[in-house]
Amino acid sequence: MRLVHTIEEMREQSRAARAKAGHLALVPTMGALHQGHLSLVRAAGARASAVAVSIFVNPTQFAPGEDFAVYPRTLAADLKALEAEGVELVFAPSVDEMYASNNLTWVVVEGLSERLCGASRPGHFRGVSTVVLKLLHIITPDSAFFGQKDALQVAIIRRMVRDLNLATTIEVCPIVRDPDGLALSSRNRYLTPEDRQSALVLSRSLAQAEKLFKGGERRSDRLIQAAKQAFAREPRARLDYFEIVDLDTIEPVPTITQPVLIAVAAFLGRTRLIDNLILTP
Ligand code: PAF
Repeated sequence: MRLVHTIEEMREQSRAARAKAGHLALVPTMGALHQGHLSLVRAAGARASAVAVSIFVNPTQFAPGEDFAVYPRTLAADLKALEAEGVELVFAPSVDEMYASNNLTWVVVEGLSERLCGASRPGHFRGVSTVVLKLLHIITPDSAFFGQKDALQVAIIRRMVRDLNLATTIEVCPIVRDPDGLALSSRNRYLTPEDRQSALVLSRSLAQAEKLFKGGERRSDRLIQAAKQAFAREPRARLDYFEIVDLDTIEPVPTITQPVLIAVAAFLGRTRLIDNLILTP
């Protein structure tokens, strides 16, 4: 496994890996890797003959006052885990390397970037789409793997790839959960034991909505009401949003007649967690 810190070397190494392997897959991450990330690495390995993983805590997707400074950085442990997975290339650039030109150019996927998490994290998706486009340009992977947990991120990146005619195929892998249902996230490590317990309300509220749906309920407001009741019984958790939206446009869907995304975000103390599921009538 080769660890690369500069854009120039990463371009060269990616070109060589593609030429040798035929198919190079990329798993973009911000490090602090958990089993969710490793499931993406394994899916990429099943699809491609060479896998590259980027580890970059991207400052432009954090708003002032968010957790950029304290975001977990665990490079040594991450490298060990990636080596064990047989990863070919790890790209871990510095902030100066990625933003040396003091960016004036930004990628905004209009109409999507302000929805769901974009409403409470202004500028977040501008940072995400810009850094992902940079990574796709530097590494030119044949495929790139993302987790379904960041459902809006997936919709935005798919749309960017389509609108800008990029050649990379975007692959999406299922959410990985702890046995009690909590979706894995690098931010789970911020939670106190009490908040970790209360955080189960995210997956529980989704399960309650799904149960009603399976019982025949198709009105989104009824499902949302049930989810809000679950939150009312869990005062440590502060609901940010619980929405039922179209998978591509992320517009609210009042009556479920086609597959929809149910997405939830909530604060436990200062930690903001997200979760979602897809309902198919
Ligand atoms: O999902 C993430 O970890 C980040 O948003 C990503 C895609 C690596 C961009 O910084």
